[in-house]
Amino acid sequence: MPADNDLCSLRWDPASATVTIIDQTLLPHTLRWCHLDSLEDFCHAISSMQVRGAPLIGITAAFGLAHALAQDPSLENLERVRATLLATRPTAVNLQWALQQVVAEVASLQPGERAAQALACAQRLRLEDVASCALIGDYGLQLLTDIPVTGTLNIMTHCNAGWLATIQWGTALAPIYKAQAAGLAVHVWVSETRPRNQGMNLTAWELQRAGVPCTVVADNSCGELMRRGEVDCVLVGSDRTAANGDVCNKVGTYLKALAAHDNGVPFYVALPWSTIDLDCPSGLDIPIEERDAAEVLSVYGLDAKGEGHQVNLAAAGTHARNPAFDITPARLVSGLITERGVFAASGAALARPPDA
Ligand code: MRU
Repeated sequence: MPADNDLCSLRWDPASATVTIIDQTLLPHTLRWCHLDSLEDFCHAISSMQVRGAPLIGITAAFGLAHALAQDPSLENLERVRATLLATRPTAVNLQWALQQVVAEVASLQPGERAAQALACAQRLRLEDVASCALIGDYGLQLLTDIPVTGTLNIMTHCNAGWLATIQWGTALAPIYKAQAAGLAVHVWVSETRPRNQGMNLTAWELQRAGVPCTVVADNSCGELMRRGEVDCVLVGSDRTAANGDVCNKVGTYLKALAAHDNGVPFYVALPWSTIDLDCPSGLDIPIEERDAAEVLSVYGLDAKGEGHQVNLAAAGTHARNPAFDITPARLVSGLITERGVFAASGAALARPPDA
């Protein structure tokens, strides 16, 4: 269990009926909680990446839909708000999935019953996410334990697939937290994850708070670390995995998978079943978010006085492109670690009945 088990990424307080989130855009320098009080707040939290990570995006949206139904429970509003929330980010399928869970539960009810049922659904999704991530941690721990190493197990991860991306535990970080709890000596290579630096800003922050040894490395050094034999396993999350096992994750994941393949390093993807989009035949069909080029051309940090500044990195007028995710072909994936067990990244394996 992470050392900060009182911390989780999204709180629901039944007494005040409020949703509170950590504003992740301020990490690692400031830990600030914010209330989400309106549909605009929920949409802004997702689109500005105050909350991010596929499972957390979905759960936040479910609470947003429940909040909006408390103001207006009509079917017209249900559809309008669903579409508004769905438009906040395009790639993580958990957004669509979580909204659909709520819609399916409330659409046929009487208007007066919808808000309460939507809230119950959002609360259930939140709790199920915690349970799923804990199971992903257990299954992933078995794989980590089977990797033949003498001494410390060196795991490389990318972006943030920890409890900040879910509610608790995380997906890719859950097996690492479980390994630490089981007394396994682990060390994590955290790739910084340009341009938004989720690895450096979020994963390193999480791991340090939990007392897990970790080292931040530049994204471009990951292949060289693998070539030197300093990486025993790569473990990442996913924002959407297609029916054929192609994995969409934060941009930079594909290059790690290529380097892992070339160096004989196992490359595992940890994800809840809700991240698998069986309606999406292959990675080619996954919409890849294009974000503002300014994210590539500038960076935020603190100066020596601890004051925050956004600074330009490039010459004025420089053009940049910012695809936020990439596709790792199924053939490069050693296994998909889910709450239902470990699956081959293949259409045949994923077509197994959901509860198999
Ligand atoms: O753009 P983000 O920060 O929302 O993207 C999140 C990721 O890509 C994570 O790495 C992740 O693996 C998916 S969420 C567990």
